[in-house]
Amino acid sequence: MTEISTNLEKAKVILKSDELVAIPTETVYGLAANAFSENAVKKIFALKNRPAFNPLIVHIASISDLDKIAKNVTPLAMKLAEAFWPGPLTLLLEKKSIISDCVTAGNTTVAVRIPNHPLTLKLLSELPFPLAAPSANPFMSISPTNPQHVKNYFDGKLKFILDGGSCIDGIESTIIGFKDNQAVLYREGSCEIAELEKIAGILLKPEKTATTIEAPGMLKKHYAPKTKLVVTTNISESIQEHFGKKIGVLSFIALETFPEVYIQKHLSSGNSLKEAATNLYSTLIELDSLHLDLIIAEYMPDSGLGNTINDRLERASSS
Ligand code: TXA
Ligand code: MG
Repeated sequence: MTEISTNLEKAKVILKSDELVAIPTETVYGLAANAFSENAVKKIFALKNRPAFNPLIVHIASISDLDKIAKNVTPLAMKLAEAFWPGPLTLLLEKKSIISDCVTAGNTTVAVRIPNHPLTLKLLSELPFPLAAPSANPFMSISPTNPQHVKNYFDGKLKFILDGGSCIDGIESTIIGFKDNQAVLYREGSCEIAELEKIAGILLKPEKTATTIEAPGMLKKHYAPKTKLVVTTNISESIQEHFGKKIGVLSFIALETFPEVYIQKHLSSGNSLKEAATNLYSTLIELDSLHLDLIIAEYMPDSGLGNTINDRLERASSS
């Protein structure tokens, strides 16, 4: 049985014995292990069925912990850290040798962030090591945004889920790396590009190389429900194309109703992309549990977090 509890002491004991604990963050739940223990980190890859080429994010408690794991941190990286941590921003920094290749998948950089969740910040500050943690879902599936999602994925295979309620941001962190002292956007996420650009200037796109996937979060198919999903700018037209099927509709706001579909969900009750981001994964997970033939999702307005949601919807719809 997998325990869901707020008992920090128990979480610490389990982590210190090289076992895994699921932890709450403001973005999504993470599947955490002692980042300094290869033995513990390997258990993350095994439980998630995650390929070894996909590196992990290391979570620390405060900026003063940064020099334990990273070196040559530039003034630009430091400015971003100071502006956005704790928060949904992950920085790719030169790693120190204490971080094993197992965590970084052989990369010379380590992904680092300070998550903004009171319980996890307390946990991190009381542990003698940082926590390596990917999202707490099996490889390729939708990231969990509450403890029950995690339990449904790993029941019986994971001892302990630290209960921090529902994640307020609901979408993974934004990942920024550096090239020639300029910031490079590796993954869109909860930290908004316009905010980052106020500090870092225009964000560059990563160079594509033939053999390496620098951020597999950018894999074309990712974050996917088991149910087939299409994304559209015209819900009515998509419904007509799939007439007779058991359809779930996912829209931004409840503008129109579609009586011919089995279920209809909207992501925001107002006109809030922030609220839509918070609700995206939990709504997709709910629709995915209904044995639908098809989920028809509407493109969000293409600004700010709308772009991030559209990125996730496209990956979820990719075959
Ligand atoms: O919000 C988040 O970032 C959540 C919470 C738990 O912190 N974590 C998360 O982890 O989304 P994960 O493993 O699902 O996604 C991390 C992404 C992966 O796409 C991985 O490839 C990329 O970060 N990454 C990690 N280390 C990297 C590195 N050294 N270079 C390039 N990409 C890296
Ligand atoms: Mg993930």
